[in-house]
Amino acid sequence: MKAVAVVPGKPNSVHLADLPKPAVDEIPGGRGVLVKVLRVGVDGTDKEINAAEYGAPPAGFDFLTIGHEGFGQVEAVGSNVTEVQPGDYVVATVRRPGGSIYDLIGTNDMTTDDTYFERGINLRHGFLTEYYVDDAEFIVKVSRGLREVGVLLEPMTVVEKGIAQAYEIQRRLRVWRPRRAAVMGAGTIGLLATLVLRLRGLQVTTFGLSRKPYLNSDLIEAIGARYESTVDVPILDGARKYGPFDLIFEATGYSPVVFDCMQGLAKNGVLVLSSVTGGDRKVEVPADKINLEFVLGNKVMVGTVNANREYFELGVRDMAQAEAEYAGWLKRLLTHPVKGLENYRELFDKLTTAKGAIKVFCEVADLV
Ligand code: BGC
Ligand code: ZN
Repeated sequence: MKAVAVVPGKPNSVHLADLPKPAVDEIPGGRGVLVKVLRVGVDGTDKEINAAEYGAPPAGFDFLTIGHEGFGQVEAVGSNVTEVQPGDYVVATVRRPGGSIYDLIGTNDMTTDDTYFERGINLRHGFLTEYYVDDAEFIVKVSRGLREVGVLLEPMTVVEKGIAQAYEIQRRLRVWRPRRAAVMGAGTIGLLATLVLRLRGLQVTTFGLSRKPYLNSDLIEAIGARYESTVDVPILDGARKYGPFDLIFEATGYSPVVFDCMQGLAKNGVLVLSSVTGGDRKVEVPADKINLEFVLGNKVMVGTVNANREYFELGVRDMAQAEAEYAGWLKRLLTHPVKGLENYRELFDKLTTAKGAIKVFCEVADLV
């Protein structure tokens, strides 16, 4: 079967590889689930893997099948699987357990191991192929009514984890009632963060680079949030105008923004960082001021990566609520479909150059 792969360490090596179709009995204990891939989203991580900035092949291979934002349909299950059945729509989680105590209790997204295993990213083949098999433990059912937008679940979980962690942390305050939130960045993650915060009833201001109106600012306003371009309203001005913010979700991919966010945070506020920044950028910051305000204001800053099954389940529920509250909104994020695995070049071209793209994804097989 076809698989879109890269040779880690070799820039721009994306190509079509050939792999045998996997079988349910590759997974021990009758716990295998064979999934037919329907759609796979791509993002900045795939771009960086193809640029050889990171990523490693599984043991015994010199290539890595990419794709970590999968969506598919169960084709067969092992004798000991009760959670899903053939025909169900599903998404697989990305990270697989290592050896730390966090991995042992099923929270592999919290691993303290230096080596981590992520399907389509590091040491495990991904989903940009025709079929994959995995343990039922890592397969999450998506309601049939969400099949058109199910490919957004993995990016959604990045947001779900960050926001769930923020609320969890804020239990320290006994009576935390967040009212004003800010989201930095209006790409897929920023849009989904805006959505999840709106679903929690917060007033949200989302900051992006471009001036409105454009699709992303329209989408933000369509769910009752405010959009500001940092060209007109720099973050610190925005925080004075619309803040201070009880919760800030940072998703710009540009690390200097973090230090502005720290200054825009309300007393007792929480700042969630989700940008994976592989560079070496340096900035000068008002360190005394930021530190003082953090100390005197009991503020928190937390990093968040990946998501384990509970956040995928939360994501499914929020996507259903989003469909009930803002019908058709999620679908508008699916701006750039590319039909067929063999058109992987077009997929990468769209990912790197398409103007106005929110989610670029591959239609591997028809939705039925
Ligand atoms: C993925 C996450 C992953 C992270 C770091 C992101 O693009 O969506 O699942 O943990 O990259 O590898
Ligand atoms: Zn990703």
